[in-house]
Amino acid sequence: MYYKKLTGEKCYLAPIDENDVSLYTAWFNDLEVTRNLLAFSWSLNEKHERETLEKISKDNNYGIHDLGNDALIGGVGLHDLDFLHRRCEIGVFIGDKSYWGKGFGTEALHLLARFAFDYLNIRNIMLRVFEFNERAIKCYQKVGFKIIGKRRRAIEIERKVYDIIYMDLLSEDLS
Ligand SMILES: CC(C)(COP(=O)(O)OP(=O)(O)OC[C@H]1O[C@@H](n2cnc3c(N)ncnc32)[C@H](O)[C@@H]1OP(=O)(O)O)[C@@H](O)C(=O)NCCC(=O)NCCS
Repeated sequence: MYYKKLTGEKCYLAPIDENDVSLYTAWFNDLEVTRNLLAFSWSLNEKHERETLEKISKDNNYGIHDLGNDALIGGVGLHDLDFLHRRCEIGVFIGDKSYWGKGFGTEALHLLARFAFDYLNIRNIMLRVFEFNERAIKCYQKVGFKIIGKRRRAIEIERKVYDIIYMDLLSEDLS
């Protein structure tokens, strides 16, 4: 059973269930997914993934579920929470590729950002994205994230060099 912590119109966010470990392991071994994340360099089997899930499940990381059928389709989480300066980072992935481009990423980010602003009293949420990841950049802009800079030539993948784009979001930017 999944627990609906935050619910939108097409998805809900639920605490991570370690019984889903094989799904997460499959996603983190899929280069089409991980080439967009720093995770492409990791070697992960189910044992390592289970340890990771156990650790991160206590820290504002959630599974993204299709509200229509409860299917787990990806994950979204807050990182580097700094309650002194009220800031954090956010990360998202949709592991089930059949769900890409259907608005789930946008809604999942919206739900967690709203939660961070309203319940964790966060003021500024930042994220990083590789410059070739146009779908992600479009998704982040739809949520309200603004480009604040770039780290030049900071990622090399498939023999090409790219910038890492930095974006951030304040409560009033949230669409
Ligand atoms: C990035 C990601 C989270 C976005 O979630 P999503 O549910 O696919 O995105 P959404 O459907 O909410 O929004 C994507 C938007 O980009 C558009 N889009 C899709 N493919 C695109 C492309 N190749 N170039 C530009 N825009 C594109 C979509 O049409 C949509 O805009 P629209 O609603 O105006 O039509 C998801 O695709 C994903 O997890 N990808 C793999 C891992 C990843 O990249 N994670 C992010 C790392 S920073």
